[in-house]
Amino acid sequence: MVDITLISGSTLGSAEYVAEHLAEKLEEAGFSTTTLHGPQLEDLPDEGLWLVVSSTHGAGDLPDNLLPLYTAILEKKPDLSRVQYGAIGIGSKEYDTFCGAIEKIDQLFTGSGAVRLGEIEKINVLDHDIPEDPAEIWLDSWKKLLPFV
Ligand SMILES: Cc1cc2nc3c(=O)[nH]c(=O)nc-3n(C[C@H](O)[C@H](O)[C@H](O)COP(=O)(O)O)c2cc1C
Repeated sequence: MVDITLISGSTLGSAEYVAEHLAEKLEEAGFSTTTLHGPQLEDLPDEGLWLVVSSTHGAGDLPDNLLPLYTAILEKKPDLSRVQYGAIGIGSKEYDTFCGAIEKIDQLFTGSGAVRLGEIEKINVLDHDIPEDPAEIWLDSWKKLLPFV
């Protein structure tokens, strides 16, 4: 069974709920999932499929609970070349730095050798009261890009 590690970065809970919702959908589709909210680098498998869901705070900043992972990857420079990932940002277009955090995460993952599958999904909470809805639509196309499916 294909295992997918969902990683959420959240301050107020929205990204966390989206990650949990997508994990449920993936399980229904026959994948096995592990959902980690604000994991440490050591908590993550160094190969396989990751799906990262992060909101943005401050001015384009990462949620506090993803900072330890982000900093650890920057400092320890792990080889992520056996990781493929999907990326979802949740933010508000009120800010010039719309979904800045997922862009930073994407650059860091790619710079560490990981390969992104599909486009980054950026969800504007001003357009979507329920961010799970666009995330679920994106998930349907993302699933088709997964290896071994
Ligand atoms: C203080 C504050 C700063 C924010 N800064 C940004 C930002 O720079 N860019 C962005 O796209 N959204 C920004 N947002 C919007 C949040 O990302 C959005 O409300 C999101 O749904 C929060 O998700 P969470 O509950 O997972 O933390 C900000 C929200 C707050 C309260």
